[in-house]
Amino acid sequence: MSTTLTRTWSVEFEKETLEKLFSKYAPQVSLTREYPTRAPITKEEKDHFYQYWTATGGHDLFIVQAASKAITLIPDSDLHFILSRQIGDDGAHAIAFRERIIAVTGRDPIDDIQTEAQRHWEFLEDIPCRNWLGFVAWELHYEHHILPQVWFNKLTSQIGDAVLAQQSNERFSDDEAVHRVTIANWWRQKFEQASTQERAELAAQLLELDEEIQKRRAAYIKQRWLDAENLNGANTQG
Ligand SMILES: [Fe+2]
Ligand SMILES: [Fe+2]
Repeated sequence: MSTTLTRTWSVEFEKETLEKLFSKYAPQVSLTREYPTRAPITKEEKDHFYQYWTATGGHDLFIVQAASKAITLIPDSDLHFILSRQIGDDGAHAIAFRERIIAVTGRDPIDDIQTEAQRHWEFLEDIPCRNWLGFVAWELHYEHHILPQVWFNKLTSQIGDAVLAQQSNERFSDDEAVHRVTIANWWRQKFEQASTQERAELAAQLLELDEEIQKRRAAYIKQRWLDAENLNGANTQG
């Protein structure tokens, strides 16, 4: 197996890669949004809004919980700086989702957000904190692999919230880019410090963990694609 890294992870690299993937597999999706979403109006649309953003809040709360555990697991000050930002930002995102759900539906979703976060622990079990490579594989899934799904929803959903859209454009998207770039570069540094033999082993172990997480998350990932379509009117089929 080749274990040489040839590109630096950057926002430009991500954009270039995603644009290539979209033009190959989803050419129907315009890479710039042509019209804004409209607010949910009917009771059913408001229930859908509650459901979608509660699950999204659960994702962010789960990141807060798992990244906090990783700080106690991995004694690395560089990583602690990176994770302190991630925990603060993703916590702020979950707070924003909660506030907008209350504003739109009049219901406080906090218990349901916790239930959603708990679901992730149930299907992943100890992987995020099993060892440092489990943590890296988990980060790649929860911060990096999720990006195409976020883009699809952001670019094609028909029902949404103008306040969240503005917060996303002004802050959340940049926060998430920092999370991805800092973790990718932290991993890269660890990888490059390893011997050739160790690199091959690290890459093989990481890929194995990545696959395990993929299998454990498969049903949830499918559900999220369907939710984007059924709850927000996103065009996930073409
Ligand atoms: Fe977030
Ligand atoms: Fe994040």
